[in-house]
Amino acid sequence: MSATPVQSEPRETAAPSRTRMGGNPTAPTASPDSQSEPAARLRSSAEISQTQAPRAAPRTSNRMPNAILVRLSNIQWKRILPFLGGLIVAAVTLVLLSRWLRSLPEVQSFLLTFPGNPTLPESAPTGLPAWMGWQHFLNMFFLVLIVRTGLQVRHEKKAPASFTPKEGSFFSPKGSTPKKVSLTQWLHQSLDVLWVLNGLIFIVLLFVTSQWMKIVPTNLDVIPNALSAALQYASLDWPHENGWLYYNALQMLAYFTTVFLAAPLAILSGMRFSTWWPDKNGRLSKIYPVEIARKVHYPVMLYFVAFTVVHVFLVFFTGALRNLNHMYTSRDVVDWVGLGVFILSLVVTAAAWILTKPLFTRPLAERFGTLSK
Ligand code: HEM
Ligand code: HEM
Repeated sequence: MSATPVQSEPRETAAPSRTRMGGNPTAPTASPDSQSEPAARLRSSAEISQTQAPRAAPRTSNRMPNAILVRLSNIQWKRILPFLGGLIVAAVTLVLLSRWLRSLPEVQSFLLTFPGNPTLPESAPTGLPAWMGWQHFLNMFFLVLIVRTGLQVRHEKKAPASFTPKEGSFFSPKGSTPKKVSLTQWLHQSLDVLWVLNGLIFIVLLFVTSQWMKIVPTNLDVIPNALSAALQYASLDWPHENGWLYYNALQMLAYFTTVFLAAPLAILSGMRFSTWWPDKNGRLSKIYPVEIARKVHYPVMLYFVAFTVVHVFLVFFTGALRNLNHMYTSRDVVDWVGLGVFILSLVVTAAAWILTKPLFTRPLAERFGTLSK
């Protein structure tokens, strides 16, 4: 894919931090000699621009515009522009093609037979209960911090501190050797625990309250209905929305994939290189090589991010106020309360983002192991 060469630069600089995860966080990561050339180039141009900034700019201006300029000049426009152009041409072609398809009588009768909504079991519940609002908020809250700390683990050149769990403790249970990892990885793993706990409660409640019927396909007509919904989205004449009663087939498949495939994959792959992995069991480690886990973990994160972008876009462009009230106030009405609660949830998430600094995480980590430089 065209994304590979673009990714190659950060990957090189990330390699040392990856070595660190396997064991010693003090591995040769911080040494300037060990930096890849592109990283060194990036840094020196940033340093140059920063040292020049106060002279060139009046006292009142901040350095932000300069930093943005440096970043913009580092973007490989020659590669990106043709890619963007191609993307726009492909999108326009897709819309025109879908519109043409929809003008065919056979396709019109297909859309009448399969309007896009899968058949639900008769006992499927209506509405979204309050517990789901809470679960959904906590999921988003933890996921934002998990993606952030995951990316920090991937890119950090020097860990803020190292964490070694106590033998036989929560972060290094029987069967595993206490591994020295970065404080950031400890935070990532701690957030994972909370996210998984929240997810387990979500799944139990989903089944206890029959809400699962709205996101688990139970009828094969989900496939033609998903095709129908895809065609409607692509032709920019979107399927009728009523999330209070049902999701369309594409939504159902996307929610199912997120909850029942992507989340377990993130857990299974993350476990493999975490401090929890029972590395004393050589056979198990051989059956499930760490390279496989690495190949899965990062793309799963990309899936979560892509899902969230499309999901939030659709929430906002298919009746934002009503949709937000469904999820954030458990009501099927159009008013501003849901949006207010949603904004509040963003503020809480932003506060947590600011507070997850070593200053606050160190004392917590010390309860579970020892910290060193
Ligand atoms: C700021 C971000 C988000 C907003 C505003 C948002 C909003 C919503 C809304 C309004 C619904 C109900 C849809 C409807 O009534 O038509 C919904 C459902 C859902 N969302 Fe989100 N969402 C967000 C982030 C996420 C994230 C990060 C995930 C998971 C990765 C997620 C997973 C889901 C799932 C699985 C459902 C279906 C729940 C069910 O009925 O069982 N959402 N979301
Ligand atoms: C129980 C669930 C999870 C566990 C146990 C886990 C564990 C880990 C560990 C131990 C690392 C350090 C990897 C290394 O050695 O390079 C890591 C990295 C990472 N994690 Fe997770 N993680 C989990 C869930 C997630 C989720 C849900 C996301 C995002 C949606 C995520 C995103 C990342 C990213 C982006 C990295 C950096 C990957 C790389 O360097 O290639 N993790 N995770």
